[in-house]
Amino acid sequence: MDRIRIKQIIAGARIGQLLVVCGWIRSKRESKGVAFIALSDGSTQDTLQLVVPSESAAFNQLHACSTGAAVRVTGTLRESPGKGQKYELEVSGIEVLGTADPETYPLQKKGHSLEFLRDIGHLRPRTNTFGAVFRVRNVLAGAVHNFFQERDFMWVHTPVITSSDCEGAGDLFTVTSLDLDRLPAGSNGSTDFSRDFFGKRAYLTVSGQLEAEFLAMSLGDVYTFGPAFRAENSNTSRHLSEFWMIEPEMAFADIIDDMKLAEDFIHYLCSKVAAECETEIAFFEKFYKNTSLKALGTLSEKPFVRISYTDAVKELGRAKKKFEYPVEWGLDLQSEHERYLTDTVFRGPVIVVDYPRDIKAFYMRQNPDNRTVAAMDVLLPKVGEIIGGSQREERLDVLEQRMEEMEIPHEHMQWYLDLRRYGSAPHAGFGLGFERLVQYITGMPNIRDVIPCPRAPQLIRF
Ligand code: 4AD
Ligand code: MG
Repeated sequence: MDRIRIKQIIAGARIGQLLVVCGWIRSKRESKGVAFIALSDGSTQDTLQLVVPSESAAFNQLHACSTGAAVRVTGTLRESPGKGQKYELEVSGIEVLGTADPETYPLQKKGHSLEFLRDIGHLRPRTNTFGAVFRVRNVLAGAVHNFFQERDFMWVHTPVITSSDCEGAGDLFTVTSLDLDRLPAGSNGSTDFSRDFFGKRAYLTVSGQLEAEFLAMSLGDVYTFGPAFRAENSNTSRHLSEFWMIEPEMAFADIIDDMKLAEDFIHYLCSKVAAECETEIAFFEKFYKNTSLKALGTLSEKPFVRISYTDAVKELGRAKKKFEYPVEWGLDLQSEHERYLTDTVFRGPVIVVDYPRDIKAFYMRQNPDNRTVAAMDVLLPKVGEIIGGSQREERLDVLEQRMEEMEIPHEHMQWYLDLRRYGSAPHAGFGLGFERLVQYITGMPNIRDVIPCPRAPQLIRF
């Protein structure tokens, strides 16, 4: 007989049926000659109550059924007379697939701190919290694809290894097959990367945008959904060294279209999670108190506030709050400023647009005022920046001049400039940090707890 997932059992209509269920034991108790086991199989937040009567042959297996053991059980589903669950499985057979020594099994019934669970990253997905996080993450990943596929965006696969370092030089991981103990010397003491695997220096990508641009400039609307790597030394609750990013890129689109897409995207994702992860969100609401179905419902409809960078700086200048970092036109907004806008002034998501060009990347389209670019950041309460995007500079002369001013060598970028030489057109896109989204939606305080294997400075376990 095929095994059935607990999620399907909870969905109903199987009373009286003989079922096979596999999972891990959460807890076991005995009372008046009957044993009760809570079984989890990861498919849902709910556990299935197993009832093992003393007269059943399965009762003799109970000594091996401690917390953490893996079992395959056969039994008949019935309505549960007890409180706390709708159904229970009256067990006729238990096969213990893998025992778990109760003396050493690290997950006990009592709650564990998130820090402790980070040290047992290989076992934490068995807890309520991490089961819920990864199920929400999965629903969100599916919803990302649905959103774009419904709108005829093509999923494109941009490289993980790249030779372009122009997005934000300084925070890249080098990829090399050179012998690190015997690096070939080049001129003036540097390493000769022409002898490296690719014949030049290569990196892990920080963003698939530049490649997505050329795909958009032939396929129309595209999106990427893949990992990005940043070697910045940021030890915060919002930064990872390896994270997943979704980057749509639209041909024949401007910054207004870009903001609209970003807003529709977040609305859509919130409504999907509210509809499909009710139990998980209710769990997060109860235990972490940073999210709720009601809040997600609001977020899936409420229009985002839009404000120019210039007005945002004025707003911050009027604030009574003392900020650690200065507020002045031309300086980048720090997360304390972003949080003030979302949490105090507007109490909701905010899109800040038209940033000073000198604090933004070379490819962003210059506005007619010659001091700002058509860039936008979407800021969410508590999490801060979740999306960064822009309209791209499609005018060859303006782009070349900007690259010269910023001392970006043209030779690596000929292909990028070609897109402006041959059939150039307005286009725009953005990047959404997937873990920040999962963090926002689940209300988990630390980004390291929304990805199975977090990478951060000095952290690469599991
Ligand atoms: O603002 P960023 O750096 O934008 C880009 O990379 C553009 N090339 C995107 C584009 O226009 N196609 O990064 C985009 C988003 C940020 O808003 C943030 O949510 C997330 O990626 N992000 C990080 N998330 C986790 N850890 C980090 N170290 C992150 N750095 C950026
Ligand atoms: Mg950014």
